[in-house]
Amino acid sequence: MAVAVAFGATACGSSDSGSGGSGGGGEDGSITMGFSQVGAESGWRTANTQSIQDSAEEAGIELQFSDAQGEQENQISAIRSFIQQRVDVIAFSPVVETGWDSVLLEAQRAGIPVILTDRSVDSEDDSLYETFLGSDFVEEGKKAGEWAVENWGSQPTYVAELQGTTGAAPALDRQEGFADAIEGTDNIQVVASQSGDFTRAGGREVMEAMLNSNPQINAVYAHNDDMALGAIEAIEAAGKVPGKDIQIISVDAVRDGMQALADGKINFIVECNPLLGGQLMDLAEKVVAGEDVPKRVVTEETTFTQEQAIEALPNRQY
Ligand code: AHR
Repeated sequence: MAVAVAFGATACGSSDSGSGGSGGGGEDGSITMGFSQVGAESGWRTANTQSIQDSAEEAGIELQFSDAQGEQENQISAIRSFIQQRVDVIAFSPVVETGWDSVLLEAQRAGIPVILTDRSVDSEDDSLYETFLGSDFVEEGKKAGEWAVENWGSQPTYVAELQGTTGAAPALDRQEGFADAIEGTDNIQVVASQSGDFTRAGGREVMEAMLNSNPQINAVYAHNDDMALGAIEAIEAAGKVPGKDIQIISVDAVRDGMQALADGKINFIVECNPLLGGQLMDLAEKVVAGEDVPKRVVTEETTFTQEQAIEALPNRQY
């Protein structure tokens, strides 16, 4: 079983850090992974779950899958149950950033390595996990903000920001990256900012309320496609044209979002890649075998304009 040790954060692809330990798994070399998923809040999440389940099967890794239904306490219980079952490796995508140190310490004391996937934790002690595989969410927010500056910066733009789940790393970081990118741009103002919990229903509800209280809104920055799709429904119900009267930037690039971009209802999408399963299983095999892994593995991602979405849609996997 690998024992976690502290290493500094490194950039994608580097390998100057590693997991300790002398190798684990069953006597026949089999590996059991306990995986705690956030829930099923979005198209992105559904694709991510599918990728993890398919990749575990392909790699011959036995997956104990637990759906936390958006609740941190469910994730903590699932991790405790994985520790009791003495799985070989635990992986999870934290619902929120803070509040993980105690349960991660329990895993460390039990000698069970932990891999963070998709989202990271806010902890002073990075020896509590072996590696973090996922996107750079600040960078995603920055890409969204840079497009806004380039395309909205020359006219007064009143932005409604639909935030992800309160306290979740992608919500905090996408807000920060966007705010940094638009800073000092006089014409762009975020006039309303509220959580739609990364869901379509949340996006619709929050957008409805924002349009009622801020009729000057002429732009939306949604932290994911599902909320943007909900916002489109609210905008149309208010008698306005999404993509024209109210321009929209979103994050994820799942099929429904890409279709809305191709149809001109969304104007720009920053990709967040959910297909993390293959890399996760590779990392798990290495960690369980006691091999070195990079402390941070950043997912490669792109952005899409309408033309690029039309071209990409026929081959989009999710
Ligand atoms: O953590 C990734 C984010 O979580 C995705 O952008 C969002 O759609 C999901 O719910």
